[in-house]
Amino acid sequence: MKPSFIQPPQLLWESGAFSSTPLVQKSTCIQDLPDIFADERAWHALPADQVVYCVEMIDSSPAEGEFYTGVTHLNPGKVGNEFFMTRGHFHARREQGEVYFGLRGRGLLLLQNEAGEARLEEVFPGSVHIIPGFTAHRLINTGDEILSALAVWPGVAGHDYAALPQGFALRVVEENGEIMGKEVQNG
Ligand code: F6R
Ligand code: MN
Repeated sequence: MKPSFIQPPQLLWESGAFSSTPLVQKSTCIQDLPDIFADERAWHALPADQVVYCVEMIDSSPAEGEFYTGVTHLNPGKVGNEFFMTRGHFHARREQGEVYFGLRGRGLLLLQNEAGEARLEEVFPGSVHIIPGFTAHRLINTGDEILSALAVWPGVAGHDYAALPQGFALRVVEENGEIMGKEVQNG
């Protein structure tokens, strides 16, 4: 018997583009990110429909034991002196982790545990990021080209965008030509 070879989905590593597979796509614009950036006046000054990031995901099942696979394409840019970034989230099922892989561009992955302790990992082509459970995560583009990162996460993880009412404990800004992580003073 001659076996048939199934053609799997394909990812172009250099661009993060998927081919030959049904995708779910979502764009997030400036108007979708109120209260995310520190400088509200600079946020208002940008076109509301300017795309900050797009996520392309393989259409898969949210069932126990399944995985989602998606690529985030985060545009370069700043709101005031703060670099473009994703909204960021904990997983609804807090114990569920995720793995990110840097594909193109340069940036940072901001990780924060439930005690509010934050750390930054450098993202670059080939970087591998193990995000443990109970850890909020956000991508930040500190470069001048698109930052693309592949992510694989459990179908049951879900997203909890409301769990960080005071936001993340670090903001990444450019000051005097330098990329800086600044602690946020809350209250
Ligand atoms: C999935 C995941 C990524 C993000 C994407 C957009 O669990 O971490 O696919 O969903 O980078 O970021 P958010 O979801 O924070 O808008
Ligand atoms: Mn996630």
